Amino acid sequence: MNARLLAIYREVRHSPNRESDDAMILDRTAERLRAKGFETDMRRPEDVARGDFSGSAAPALVFMMCEREDILGLVASQARGGLRVINPPESVLNTYRFRTIPLLKQAKVPMPRTELFPVSRKTAPGFGKAWVKRGDVHNTQKGDVFLAKSKAEIDKAFKDYASRGIAHACLQEHVEGDLIKFYGVGTGWFKWFYHKDQELKKFRFSEPELKKIVQKAARVLGLEIYGGDAIVSAAGSIVLIDLNAWPSFALFRDEASQVIADHIASQTSRERSRPFPTTV
Ligand SMILES: Nc1ncnc2c1ncn2[C@@H]1O[C@H](COP(=O)(O)OP(=O)(O)O)[C@@H](O)[C@H]1O
Ligand SMILES: [Mg+2]
Repeated sequence: MNARLLAIYREVRHSPNRESDDAMILDRTAERLRAKGFETDMRRPEDVARGDFSGSAAPALVFMMCEREDILGLVASQARGGLRVINPPESVLNTYRFRTIPLLKQAKVPMPRTELFPVSRKTAPGFGKAWVKRGDVHNTQKGDVFLAKSKAEIDKAFKDYASRGIAHACLQEHVEGDLIKFYGVGTGWFKWFYHKDQELKKFRFSEPELKKIVQKAARVLGLEIYGGDAIVSAAGSIVLIDLNAWPSFALFRDEASQVIADHIASQTSRERSRPFPTTV
């Protein structure tokens, strides 16, 4: 008999304007795995937090798009006990910007100048025109990521984050150039494309170099299924501006779901199966 798998959707709050795309890639991947003979149960993160695992008592592997710390903590405790989880919970936590920035800086992954600040700081330092990004998860509502044109705007954003319980903010130098979106699985499958809403310059750049930068960053964070944003500037230099766990793969759903399902199947031990906990 084939192993039982458990899939966990992304929190709806973490999928602004992408709720259905995010759910579709997970559903499609699950369909592919069922076609390979794996029993695959689907759970919403709130069900996992409530301890509702009826019908999936003993997954051999968990694959998930969820991102909230409480659920990640629950899954992480199982991962420490030997449960295989894709992406590993620690790697998803590493996509919180207050972790990503130091990790990628230390590994010398090319990024625009980027600094993290506690939002409690009364005045933000002199960055001038800069991208302001909440320091934890990616954009979940308007104002979480925006281009500030003055120090006053930065100060206001810091205040706003503080009032919402967000402890850190990240300021990042604005880089002119072509905005690239990319998707990757492991060290093999990689796709990139130009973001559609932009005046494209089509600056020449090395595609192998882009792939190398992205795969290095993914490896540093520990991500197996990932996507993000990069900018190519006039001289052909490439900087990474964002790296996320398990994106929607919207333009490549058919192809990506197959590659992801193959990867998950290859990682599933048919013998191993253990009970999943029933409380956070
Ligand atoms: N340093 C930067 N230089 C130029 N554009 C940026 C920069 N940082 C972000 N952007 C723009 O803002 C968008 C959102 O930023 P990103 O860091 O990807 O956050 P998120 O995906 O969480 O909204 C990017 O796709 C890009 O268009
Ligand atoms: Mg992004």
